[in-house]
Amino acid sequence: MVQKKANISLKAYNSFGVDTTADLLVEWESVADLVEWMRTEGDTLTSKPWNILGGGCNTLFTGPYHGTLIHSVAKGITVVSDTPEEVIIRVEAGHLWDDVVAWSCERGLWGIENLSAIPSSAGASAVQNIGAYGVEAKDCIRSVEVLYVDTLELGTIAGCDCEFGYRHSIFKTSLAGKVIITAVNYRLSHTPAPKLGYGSIQEEVAKLGELTPQAIRTAITTIRNSKLPDPAVTGNAGSFFTNPILPREQVEALKELYPTMPTYEVEGRPECLKIATGWMIDQLGWKGRSMGRAGVHNKQALVLVNLGGATGEEVVALAERICAEVKEKFGVEIHPEVNIL
Ligand code: EPU
Repeated sequence: MVQKKANISLKAYNSFGVDTTADLLVEWESVADLVEWMRTEGDTLTSKPWNILGGGCNTLFTGPYHGTLIHSVAKGITVVSDTPEEVIIRVEAGHLWDDVVAWSCERGLWGIENLSAIPSSAGASAVQNIGAYGVEAKDCIRSVEVLYVDTLELGTIAGCDCEFGYRHSIFKTSLAGKVIITAVNYRLSHTPAPKLGYGSIQEEVAKLGELTPQAIRTAITTIRNSKLPDPAVTGNAGSFFTNPILPREQVEALKELYPTMPTYEVEGRPECLKIATGWMIDQLGWKGRSMGRAGVHNKQALVLVNLGGATGEEVVALAERICAEVKEKFGVEIHPEVNIL
């Protein structure tokens, strides 16, 4: 059985805490139930808008959603294989991402510990190719299981065919609206492979006196908690914007003007560099400032926050103003990472 909820408040379903409604929310717990619902009532998806709502941690609703939101509450982690080389786990789409990381770290497995404390679901980890502290989900995604909306066939897409890039996957482009992710298979390892190169991880881990996945998880959680607002207290969706990837010459010209601007190499794209949007917004003096009931987090300028009762439109108005100011000062276009509905 799926749970069908008509005219439902979305307040508890989006980490921004925006108080709006959806015409219909369909929650599914098993693929068989989802397929059955699609078979009998799936034509609602052709007559009205529909979308997949993952953990709701990367979505901003700008008004009532007049359509159907499909939301997985399927949970479970299964060990598919465990060899000295690798451990393959299969995770249901609706499983909380951080519970997957906790599960892995508790067993001393390596691979996803740097992705600790990211509010997301397993399904969304693949759509978004979530990333933090030098690791991206794609590094561990072996394959993604999907349901094709048109044919109701089940399929498996290998990680190498998911067109993963920085906050990007095929699920945002050619497969958007065509598939529903049902499970993700991750490749973990027994072999220690600590990645401590980003920011202050090394220092934070050193304080713990051991180098285990669990210690790295603790260190990363401490770092994230010191910078990022807890969505349970202050509505937010993590980074609101992505970091632009620009031609190297353009970044070098910017560096001449702004020598302290942080820049990063981009895997597989030596002709480009990534620059930090949070730094640019901070330079504009936006950190800790607000416009109406939407604000810029006082410890991380890349994060927009709901100061209490903000509508999605207020957040968008703030975002648009920031985009315009960044463009004016730095000549760079920035784009939301958040899915605006
Ligand atoms: N910075 C500032 N001021 C700010 C924010 C950042 O000067 O207010 C500077 C930092 O000092 C640093 C640089 O900008 O030199 C980059 O900052 P940070 O390391 O905090 O990373 P970020 O680019 O702001 C990205 C991800 C985060 C991820 C961190 C750590 C994106 C869109 N965001 O943020 O992911 O946790 O790196 O790896 O790529 C998320 O996607 O929701 C998210 C939190």
